[in-house]
Amino acid sequence: MLKKAKITAVSHWVPEKILTNKELEKMVDTNDEWILTRTGIRERHILEDGKGSSDMGVEAVKLLCDQRGIDPLEIDAIIVATVTPDMFFPNTGNLIQAKIGAVNAMSFDVMAACSGFVYALSIGTQYIRTGDYKKVVIVGTDKMSSIVDYTDRNTCILFGDAAGAVLIEPTEDESEAIIDFSLNSDGLGTEALHMYGGGSLYPATADTVAKKLHYIYQDGKTVFKMAVQKMADVSVNLLHKHNFTGDDLKLFVPHQANLRIVEAAVRRLKIDPEKAVINIGKYGNTTAATIPMALSEAYQDGRMKKGDLVLFGTFGGGYTWASALLRWAMN
Ligand code: UT7
Repeated sequence: MLKKAKITAVSHWVPEKILTNKELEKMVDTNDEWILTRTGIRERHILEDGKGSSDMGVEAVKLLCDQRGIDPLEIDAIIVATVTPDMFFPNTGNLIQAKIGAVNAMSFDVMAACSGFVYALSIGTQYIRTGDYKKVVIVGTDKMSSIVDYTDRNTCILFGDAAGAVLIEPTEDESEAIIDFSLNSDGLGTEALHMYGGGSLYPATADTVAKKLHYIYQDGKTVFKMAVQKMADVSVNLLHKHNFTGDDLKLFVPHQANLRIVEAAVRRLKIDPEKAVINIGKYGNTTAATIPMALSEAYQDGRMKKGDLVLFGTFGGGYTWASALLRWAMN
């Protein structure tokens, strides 16, 4: 019989250095008021040069092991969601695996942009369900500052660097298990949100650098419209599929791309805004890290207890959009 998976630890890590809206005012033609009212972002954290997404992931996984009281040797698999791997290969999971000495773990990366964490969690959940693995670590980590053009006011105000992680393990008990996922893609979203440079199609050349192909490009308005619709749809539909309503939810943990996108989802879910975990003001959009970060902060703040119904919802590059519904397993 298939097993169920539960979250048994959650952690996050952010670099110390903060980049405020005021500081951005000195870098591009923008202002604190515009950024705050259009996005809800006040500041974001930036990782130092010489460090990569794996270094933030390492910190998050160390905290995870401490919280659960396990040795890295006990980890069976490390699945990392990121669009900013340290390098193309080895994958970021392997780099984290080596740095923490998790020599019994297999590891790989998942690239699904802002939906990456939920995609990776769904993959890890399958390994637990089949009984193949007992301790799977899911990491969302992105050094977005490494692919942001700090002369482009359309994007540089949005992103930050961070990592978050969860540990999942088997359970027989439905009242503490991950219930279901909804995963969706639409490759036609490529044009509106992408980074073309550095892959096999446009390998790095002086020309790709000159054309700024190694930076994120986003048509904000187009992506915004899709995000408002799809993040709400995917969240509401998964909730309703299991015959729940917003009243049954303890917490909604959304991807933090723009406060207005979260507010639209909250309205569609018909939930008290207090039920949404919002930390975009402090971190900006940290891509694959937003959901585990928000979950970790909510846990630290004592916002959920064992058995509570929790919903994740996200939308991002690809396009990809996803949700996850679960019963919280920790006290
Ligand atoms: O996580 C991945 C998925 N990404 C998202 O979900 C992000 C979705 N998009 C957004 O969040 C929003 O579209 C943005 C925050 C990126 C932009 O907000 P907006 O309300 O869509 O603004 P806009 O792009 O329509 O720009 C409005 C005006 C423009 O000026 P004009 O043409 O009206 O004169 C922009 O040039 O604001 C201007 N503008 C800025 N002004 C000050 C654009 N960026 C800035 C800026 N500071 N940083």
